Amino acid sequence: MLHIAEGSTALHYGQQCFEGLKAYRAADGSVNLFRPDQNAARMARSCARLLMPEVPEEMFVEACKQVVAANERFIPPHGTGGALYLRPFVIGVGDNIGVRTAPEFIFSVFCVPVGPYFKGGLTPHNFITSQYDRAAPNGTGAAKVGGNYAASLLPGAQAKAAQEGGRHFADVIYLDPSTHTKIEEVGAANFFAITKDGRRFVTPRSPSILESITKYSLLHLAEHRLGLEVEEGDVAIGDLGQFGEAGACGTAAVITPIGGIQHGDDFHVFYSETEVGPVTRRLYDELVGIQFGEREAPEGWIVKV
Ligand SMILES: Cc1ncc(COP(=O)(O)O)c(C=O)c1O
Repeated sequence: MLHIAEGSTALHYGQQCFEGLKAYRAADGSVNLFRPDQNAARMARSCARLLMPEVPEEMFVEACKQVVAANERFIPPHGTGGALYLRPFVIGVGDNIGVRTAPEFIFSVFCVPVGPYFKGGLTPHNFITSQYDRAAPNGTGAAKVGGNYAASLLPGAQAKAAQEGGRHFADVIYLDPSTHTKIEEVGAANFFAITKDGRRFVTPRSPSILESITKYSLLHLAEHRLGLEVEEGDVAIGDLGQFGEAGACGTAAVITPIGGIQHGDDFHVFYSETEVGPVTRRLYDELVGIQFGEREAPEGWIVKV
């Protein structure tokens, strides 16, 4: 429980940012954090964007470790697919009324056990594009700040309520805020696709995307473990025919295979609306294997608690 001033900038002007990462129980009972240094670095970038003091990496990682250690009994057992989700955050607090940076800040971390994202196994979901943007072209899209998420609630709810051609949709696809012609994000996850020849991993690059730690991990694994070419660039919504598979990726989503995307009257199917493509499955197995300590991790990716 937090007791903060009513005038706190976090409450009125959205001066706050957060992170999300998980602690995973390995087969030997030990506990793995996955790339917490990357979350620390991203939180420092978010703080800088909102004129808040940066939390040093060492303090960030130590705080995460202490919260995990104090809540060890809540970490789901190995093999269940569950994990302990950690939510570090920084908020501007203290008596204030003007639009200015806060006189004081709180950095804290809380946690909650979460079950496996895919209750029915790794299954494709459909998505639908939105007229709305989650962030402005030179706004705060690259920072993990609450305002982006407040802006995403309505389009997210609309996507989940939409029905086109008898289909339901798991979440929204955001297009680039300047031209609405290129894919940016998938709800609170990044987008990747595999070309039809199965040889290239392609993912959007844009200053308004939140750079996903999962996405950059997959990009590395695609290149170094699967031997794919990797490319960050424009992914035109009108040019999805070149891709044979697609997915949404993030700490919560892990990898959600994308069955198809509804854009206006068009519905584009990637691999299948019901089956997972082979490259997506290999990426998933590599990533999850590393997180749960079943596969060798690249240097520095796993931090033991
Ligand atoms: C908007 C948005 N994009 C992408 C991601 C995925 O990022 P990560 O892989 O670091 O969890 C998240 C979740 O943190 C997000 O909220």
